Amino acid sequence: MKLALAADHGAFELKESIKKHLEEKGIEYHDFGCYSKESVDYPRYAYYAASAVAKGEYEFGILCCTTGLGVSMAANKVKGIRAAVCTNEMLAEMTRRHNNANVICMGQNVVTEELADKMIDIFISTGFDGGRHERRINLLTDIENGKEL
Ligand code: RB5
Repeated sequence: MKLALAADHGAFELKESIKKHLEEKGIEYHDFGCYSKESVDYPRYAYYAASAVAKGEYEFGILCCTTGLGVSMAANKVKGIRAAVCTNEMLAEMTRRHNNANVICMGQNVVTEELADKMIDIFISTGFDGGRHERRINLLTDIENGKEL
């Protein structure tokens, strides 16, 4: 499994801590930046990682900013991306099981480094439930394609 990782300056430290966790677990990742605490614009970094996930180059994306909100908004503009802001372990599990999320977003000012690691472990190891949720995912794609519901 290969993960796409990105953050803005507001979550540079959280991203570094996540990298350490992934390395300890032997999980491959690519760091799409940013690469310092210098102020940057979060949509760019969210886009770099999310578009690589949408292209199928990475199985999942992990996006971080101060709140997790901005990167999630940017990622969800990329076709094929279902990005979810997670603040606890239950959300990390449920957004995989019900929403088949392919990007997890989180905020450095919202979660601890320990919680971030736990949410990532759950997110990447939980499968999609399918069934009735498949139909709902398909409706999300319809909306994305401009179809009227
Ligand atoms: C950057 O100041 C901050 O706006 C950003 O990290 C993010 O939280 C936006 O949603």
